[in-house]
Amino acid sequence: MSHQIKSVAVIGGGTMGTGIAGLCAQTDHKVLLLDVSEEAAQKAKDRIINGRPPAVEDPEKAKNITFGTIDNDLAQVANYDWICEAVVEDLPTKRALFEKLEPLRREGSVISTNTSGIPLRDITDGMPTSLKTNIAVTHFFNPVKVMRLLELIPGQETTPDVMDALAAFTGGQLGKGVVYAKDTVNFIGNRIGCFWMMTGLHYAQEALSDGLTMEQIDALMSGPMGLPPTGLYGLIDLIGLDVMELVGKNLAINLPDGDMGLDFIALPGPIHEMLERGQIGRKAGAGFYRMQKLDDGSRKTEIYDLTAGDWRASEKFQLDDTHAGLDVLLSDDAAGNFAWRIMGGTLCYAADLIPEIADDLVNIDRAMKWGYAWGRGPFEMIDALGADNVIARANAMGLQTPKMLKVLADAGVDSFYRNEGQEYLGADGQYHPTPLE
Ligand SMILES: NC(=O)c1ccc[n+]([C@@H]2O[C@H](COP(=O)([O-])OP(=O)(O)OC[C@H]3O[C@@H](n4cnc5c(N)ncnc54)[C@H](O)[C@@H]3O)[C@@H](O)[C@H]2O)c1
Repeated sequence: MSHQIKSVAVIGGGTMGTGIAGLCAQTDHKVLLLDVSEEAAQKAKDRIINGRPPAVEDPEKAKNITFGTIDNDLAQVANYDWICEAVVEDLPTKRALFEKLEPLRREGSVISTNTSGIPLRDITDGMPTSLKTNIAVTHFFNPVKVMRLLELIPGQETTPDVMDALAAFTGGQLGKGVVYAKDTVNFIGNRIGCFWMMTGLHYAQEALSDGLTMEQIDALMSGPMGLPPTGLYGLIDLIGLDVMELVGKNLAINLPDGDMGLDFIALPGPIHEMLERGQIGRKAGAGFYRMQKLDDGSRKTEIYDLTAGDWRASEKFQLDDTHAGLDVLLSDDAAGNFAWRIMGGTLCYAADLIPEIADDLVNIDRAMKWGYAWGRGPFEMIDALGADNVIARANAMGLQTPKMLKVLADAGVDSFYRNEGQEYLGADGQYHPTPLE
């Protein structure tokens, strides 16, 4: 059956639900937004219109949304083409909702869950075929209206036309950059992004012992890598150590045996102590950085010096020319060794995850650029460094050649993209046309 999406029912009006409902309303689609109570629905409405920033650009567009409660109004989903679940990240809650929903929705409608970490197969286990064939994961990134990435993940029985309808609507109508992932833990962006953060925290501890400063670590992990200016510690301050700990626990359960990430799932000791005393990041007013207001009204940034175990004024670190570009990864000094271990390790990790998390490297590169604001994706970075150099450095550091680098070496070629990016190297060792964005 072919599906066409023109209207959307969003269940759950929290951070993600209001973002998704707001974006659909802003683009002139009829939206139903349901939450657990009248009060929660009212809060969602307020957030959509008056949030900072509001979920709709134009408050008038909020009139496209009908608000209601799950208890009173769930039967209304029969009037909508796409039912998008965005309730709390809790398996029994999601399953109970889908069990109630399935008999109510109309034939031809499609369903999705916005889960960030629960396997789709666990959500649909034992559910009717009518649900299993019509459901996918639509993994939006926060804030929904800003982040371009949308990861689309089919279940084992999801039909291609359901995927096509979701891709056409989210890509065409909502303006998202659609990336195809598989039903594996944390999908693509967060699988690689969390590996980068978790290994980063561990390797950074060793780099601090080698004499690097925290500001130097953040400087190395931003501009030279083409990553956002927050670097490592600044990004984790934004996310929060509470979330990082939950991420680690989820990875501990769901990463496959032998995955390199398993060695890095616990927060390093001094950072776990920060979590225990509530120094978890920006939402708590202090993490690795904090802003202090001085008597004269001015502000200064302080950094929690992990080596000294105390706060001090943060100083901007100026990288010299030899450490200012991506090729710092190939430098054989303390800064280069640290940069290689975190970033080079992450590039190798990504290059080992095809076909486990995605069928091809284009989906991985796009996920990191659109979801984590990396200037270049992992495979583009390897091309910039020279695949031979990356293989040599990985082998010298005791790593086996990752799968896609082996494909490249066996094919006798030296880059993942050619013809100005118009073709990419597939897992079959052949070049293929790069799909349009
Ligand atoms: N926040 C993010 O950065 C982010 C990013 C991607 C995906 N996600 C995923 O999106 C989903 C929603 O996350 P969020 O950040 O919007 O959470 P949230 O806490 O902001 O909102 C959760 C919503 O669920 C509702 N809810 C609570 N208990 C419920 C119940 N028993 N039945 C039905 N609804 C209930 C709440 O009223 C609220 O509207 C989760 O699966 C989460 O993992 C979150």
